[in-house]
Formats: sequence, structure tokens, C-alpha cells
Amino acid sequence: MFKIGVVGCGYWGPNLVRNFLGHPSVEKVFCYDKDKRRLSFIKRQFPMVEATEDFNEMVKNPEIDAIAIATPVFTHFPIAKEAIEQGKDVLIEKPLTSKSSEAELLIELAEKKRKTVMVDHTFIYTGAVKKIKEIISNGEIGNIMYFDSVRVNLGLFQHDINVVWDLAPHDISIMDYIIDETPKAVSAIGINHYNQFEDVAYLTVYFNGKSLAHFHVNWLAPVKVRNILVGGTKKMILYDDTEPSEKVKVYDKGVEVITREGVYETLIQYRTGDMYAPKLDTTEALTGVVNEFLSSIEEDRPPLTDGLTGLNVVKILEASEQSIKNNSKIVYL
Ligand SMILES: NC(=O)c1ccc[n+]([C@@H]2O[C@H](COP(=O)([O-])OP(=O)(O)OC[C@H]3O[C@@H](n4cnc5c(N)ncnc54)[C@H](O)[C@@H]3O)[C@@H](O)[C@H]2O)c1
Repeated sequence: MFKIGVVGCGYWGPNLVRNFLGHPSVEKVFCYDKDKRRLSFIKRQFPMVEATEDFNEMVKNPEIDAIAIATPVFTHFPIAKEAIEQGKDVLIEKPLTSKSSEAELLIELAEKKRKTVMVDHTFIYTGAVKKIKEIISNGEIGNIMYFDSVRVNLGLFQHDINVVWDLAPHDISIMDYIIDETPKAVSAIGINHYNQFEDVAYLTVYFNGKSLAHFHVNWLAPVKVRNILVGGTKKMILYDDTEPSEKVKVYDKGVEVITREGVYETLIQYRTGDMYAPKLDTTEALTGVVNEFLSSIEEDRPPLTDGLTGLNVVKILEASEQSIKNNSKIVYL
């Protein structure tokens, strides 16, 4: 049975608390937030949690096996480092850290201490993304030609990070999960209107092969759009996360190239076949995250979204930021 500490009880932390409390292998949940009002809130919501007013008390408590961190991004590294040094396994919210060097240090430290570092790339645990991965892995859509995502809405403006660090980790983690190739380079453009942080940005990720990925993130959109298009050489997938039930649609559409003997120009023929929407697992993604974290510790194996997965995403975010500062210059990874 596990005893878990949750650090950070703002917007996302209570979701972690609820899922840990609901897990059959969890005996007790301790909570810490530097803001006492949030601690009182969590205690009112979940009277069975033990609220701790001192981080040191939590991190040094020998009763606690693992710590989940849902604080602002720039605090992930110092909190996780201290937790691992004190012999705890850690589950860290996305993005893993605010610098790739910090992610590398955490991975190294965890290896030395034989502890688990897992990043909460929540979308990887959704029924939709699991189904897309399955469809791509069984070869149904052919080779991936492009990955195109749009994640836009009005706000919420963050006070410490730009729109790329806030919204793009979701889509970059999905891309990293479904495209087997390692990205080669990034170029990005972004603009700020209300403070020093970009509120609209476009990122392009390049690969060695014939795939290209593009991400549009925006806090200034009048409507909420959550679309991902994956174009394969055989079929194409549309993932619309705002759809209540048919979130994933697979289109039997594509292009065929015909070269006839004696004809020098290539002929392009369009193919439009059927569309189907596969049945999806509707289990809450965060239940899968918590389950994977605890199972990986019990089974002494790396979790699906381990430290290296988190590092891959942070590297792309960091390169995007560098590119934005340098007029969209291509940054090699
Ligand atoms: N996986 C997801 O889908 C998802 C969704 C939302 C947020 N997040 C991530 O969760 C993290 C928190 O985001 P949020 O939206 O809950 O932010 P938030 O501002 O609502 O909450 C953060 C909480 O952390 C507390 N805090 C700040 N510094 C602290 C410290 N040093 N020690 C202890 N507590 C501290 C604050 O008092 C606050 O209560 C971020 O990394 C964010 O990217 C993930």
C-alpha cells in the first residue's frame, strides 16, 4: 500500500488527490501547498487527506513513499530534486521542468537513487490517443506525412510562462508518442500583446524523414479548438477533443500517383472512401496516469511517460523559445 504526498493544490493538484484517493493501492494522501488557503480548501474537499504546513515535514516523512508535484513549472525541479534525494519516487506535472538541463539532472539523480521519475503527459492516457497510437502502429494509415495540431481558446493567461509552455506540451507529447522518429529541428514564431509572454505562437518540428509537424497555440481565440490531423499515406485521422463522443475519425482518403509509360507528367488521383469513428475507452486519463505511476513502482520498470519522455518535450519547448527570440531561426535539437 502507498502513502502519497501531493505538493500544490491549486487547479490541477485536487484532480491528482481525487485519483490517488480512489486508487485501491493508496492508503493515505498527504497534501502541501505554500498557500494555506489552498490547504484549507483541499481539506474541506477531501477530509480524509492529511494537510501538512511545512514542505520539509512532508519530504522528510519516512511514511511517505512517493510525491506528486502540481506546482508552477519553474518550481518542479527544486521540489522533485529534494524529494528524490529523500528517497521518494516522483510524479511531476507537465512540462517536466523549465530547462532541459534540469530534466537531465533529475533523470541522473533518480537513476543513482533507483527512484522513478514520471511526467504527467495526461493525453497519452486518454482513450483517443491510445486508439490513434494503435491505428498507426498496426500500419492502417501508412507512413505519417504530417501531424498538425490546433489548441486555441480565450486565456487563461499564465503569469510565469508563455502560451507555448502552457499549451504545446500536450500536443508535443502526443506527437512524440505516435511518431516513432526523433525530431531533428524546430522553428517557431510567436507574438505577445498584453505582457512579456507570447500569447499566440506557431511551431514547426522537422524530422529526417518525410514527416513534418506543426502546432498552433493561442490564448486569444474566440472559440475553443482542439484539433489534431494526422495525414498518412493510406488514411488520415482527425482527432477533435471537443467532440463529446466521436473524438477520433479515420478517413479512407488519400492521393495516388500514376505514372504511365510514355507519359512524362505524373498524374495525381484522389481517393475518397469511407470514414469511421472507433469506439474509445472513456476511463478518466488521470486515473490511468496514477495507475501507471504506482504500477511502474511496484513492477520496478520505467513508466510509459518516464523522465526521458519528459525531457524530449522540454527540449522542443526550449528550442521553440530560442527560435522565437531569434526571428524563427531553425534550432537543431
Ligand atoms: N496535465 C494537465 O492536463 C494539466 C492541467 C493543468 C495544469 N497542469 C500543470 O500542473 C501544474 C500546476 O498548474 P495549476 O494550473 O494547478 O496551477 P495553479 O496556479 O492553479 O496551482 C499551483 C499551486 O501551487 C502552489 N505553489 C506554488 N509554488 C509552490 C511551492 N514552491 N511549494 C508548494 N506549493 C506551491 C500555489 O500556491 C498553487 O496553489 C503546472 O505544471 C501545470 O502545467 C497540468
